[in-house]
Amino acid sequence: RSIVRRTSTTGAYLTRRGFASESAPDRKVAILGAAGGIGQPLSLLMKLNPLVSQLSLYDIAGTPGVAADVSHINTRSQVSGFAGDEQLGQALEGADVVIIPAGVPRKPGMTRDDLFNINAGIVKSLCTAIAKYCPHALVNMISNPVNSTVPIAAEVFKKAGTYDEKRLFGVTTLDVVRAKTFYAGKAKVNVADVIVPVVGGHAGITILPLFSQATPKANLGDEEIEALTKRTQDGGTEVVEAKAGKGSATLSMAYAGAIFADACLKGLNGVPDVVECSFVQSTVTDLPFFASKVRLGKNGVEEVLGLGPLSDFEKQGLEALKPELKSSIEKGIKFANDN
Ligand code: NAI
Repeated sequence: RSIVRRTSTTGAYLTRRGFASESAPDRKVAILGAAGGIGQPLSLLMKLNPLVSQLSLYDIAGTPGVAADVSHINTRSQVSGFAGDEQLGQALEGADVVIIPAGVPRKPGMTRDDLFNINAGIVKSLCTAIAKYCPHALVNMISNPVNSTVPIAAEVFKKAGTYDEKRLFGVTTLDVVRAKTFYAGKAKVNVADVIVPVVGGHAGITILPLFSQATPKANLGDEEIEALTKRTQDGGTEVVEAKAGKGSATLSMAYAGAIFADACLKGLNGVPDVVECSFVQSTVTDLPFFASKVRLGKNGVEEVLGLGPLSDFEKQGLEALKPELKSSIEKGIKFANDN
């Protein structure tokens, strides 16, 4: 049995003990919305992950083609495609991790909250099925607005009696990916070495990168930090505008989603010290959900880590984001209970 040592895929901070594919336990990953702009490259990246033994691709249509295509890649996992409501149960049964990039993306001029009316309903119905068919799976919520869809999922699971706060994650990894890239560019450091926590939520000013904690340290001035913060907060909009009506981030999001799902799988498999930022149920602030560093383990969230020391600029940012984040969370809870 060979044990491989490798650096974390985040390019980051810890050398972790991985598994050679032969010795890794069987793990089923389901992707809901697998035929979409994020779903397709995410399916590809998860097919490349040796920790996955079964890859289940679900969408309302188009998944047989995506699954046939991806299934020809000579890596470990067996791939199956499922299309339409009547196959959703089969797609989910036995899943260890469910990744949800189902829903509509933004067009120029839209905020993530403008997606609420459509995506809230999609997330609610998918989570109802998760509660029924794989209540113990770790759920990675990508569908926007994440600040509301995660609370919706929590309410659906509570009603079904399956809620476990350790198993529900809003995927904010793309904010971290962007913060790392932008910081490395400004600080002129090797991007593969950069660590930056991003906390708060996943929309506009609720995205709060903590550049005061970024490493490798760099001597950036206040104005540079403010510009980096703004660029990280508006990173999604930068892509939406560049795509000019053809959607939002898909390729970088698929990368970020694959990193986060990989971290979840490593945690489930007992790899120590797996830490990623995620939007989870939290007592770090007075808000019921909040993104911060999370240690992942065999049951999902092992520990929600605190914010650490903040600069005055970050403290202001934290206070400024709370009202918006609070109302997005409440909007999600209200939707789940009214519909
Ligand atoms: P897309 O429109 O290209 O793909 C969405 C897919 O979801 C489509 O294939 C569609 O058929 C499918 N879908 C719709 N209803 C469904 C249902 N009931 N069950 C299963 N599948 C269903 O959109 P794209 O670009 O892939 O974005 C997907 C979502 O991800 C959007 O809500 C977007 O805002 C969000 N997003 C989140 C990010 C994050 O950082 N968390 C970053 C970028 C996008």
